Amino acid sequence: MKALYFNQFGDSDVLKYGDLATPAIDENSVLVKTEFIGLNFADIYRRRGNYHIEPSDPYINGYEASGQVVQVGAGLDKGLLGQSVLFVDVPYANAEYVKVPSEKLIILPTAIDTKQAATIGLQGLTADFLANDLGQNNKDDRVFITGISGGVGQILSQILSAKGVKVSGSVSTELKQQIALSLGASKVYLNRDKALWQPVLKGKLETVYDGVGSTLTESIELLKNKGKVIFFGMAGGNPENIDLIDLLTHSKSILTGDLWDYLSSFKERQNRSQRLFKLVSTGKINISEPTIFHLSEGQAAHNFLESGKSTGKVLMKV
Ligand SMILES: NC(=O)c1ccc[n+]([C@@H]2O[C@H](COP(=O)([O-])OP(=O)(O)OC[C@H]3O[C@@H](n4cnc5c(N)ncnc54)[C@H](OP(=O)(O)O)[C@@H]3O)[C@@H](O)[C@H]2O)c1
Repeated sequence: MKALYFNQFGDSDVLKYGDLATPAIDENSVLVKTEFIGLNFADIYRRRGNYHIEPSDPYINGYEASGQVVQVGAGLDKGLLGQSVLFVDVPYANAEYVKVPSEKLIILPTAIDTKQAATIGLQGLTADFLANDLGQNNKDDRVFITGISGGVGQILSQILSAKGVKVSGSVSTELKQQIALSLGASKVYLNRDKALWQPVLKGKLETVYDGVGSTLTESIELLKNKGKVIFFGMAGGNPENIDLIDLLTHSKSILTGDLWDYLSSFKERQNRSQRLFKLVSTGKINISEPTIFHLSEGQAAHNFLESGKSTGKVLMKV
């Protein structure tokens, strides 16, 4: 089968496209022929050697793809054959065929095709747990999302707006600002104008969702007393050390979370994805067109995501 792989950690030039052995399945897994593979920031951390990656020789990156079940393990319902599916937490996904344990399958409803599913995928499920498990904001809460036009940011912003939360955020360019405004954010600020808007927002927000990381100290300053930062990633670099006593003095909190801890069973995966798919199929959330590279253009896809130019999902078509 064709796969995108690498032998050593490093820049995107370590990535190679070529032939590797197709995985064998066991009685409780299926073989998925992938159509669209999701590229996520964690894959960049993994390629650089900064994040957990499943051992293999060579390394095959990626945990997220959509496609069709083409082989079913002996212990499973044969009705799975031909089913369109998504998975977001299965290793070795940068390949034409992936062995997927049955409990990790997300079965697609007919209203959602494989391209839409991969576009929503891991970023959508992340936005879902950030909003529903960690944030739990009330109507009229004032919240802020750093990098709001990114993949997670776009969906998170719409989930929160649909609940009546007042959403604002920050971006690096005017184009990204327009995108975030078109998806319902009430105010979107440019990073380069921080000196103007940060003093105005300081101490006024219930929640800041921060997936940029290097902005964590600034995010804490935007909170009102008893507010919380939801720190969920470091696309812009690691955060500075935080003064816990200063947090305590103002009753501010930092919550963190990793999606995988919220996808603990087949039922969890199904329920969370159905909640999300319903928001999409009923038009409550718009999913913008993904940027699609061919799997053989993996290096270019990594460079694009790392450049910070992407707005929304980056997919690799198999
Ligand atoms: N905790 C979890 O379970 C979980 C799951 C999935 C993703 N994540 C994290 O969520 C964050 C967002 O992920 P995503 O998939 O939405 O990524 P994305 O689409 O690339 O969005 C990230 C945003 O971060 C901003 N950014 C700031 N500095 C950057 C830099 N040096 N390079 C690239 N982008 C930079 C960019 O917005 P501006 O240009 O507007 O600043 C960009 O739009 C990442 O930190 C990721 O690791 C966490």
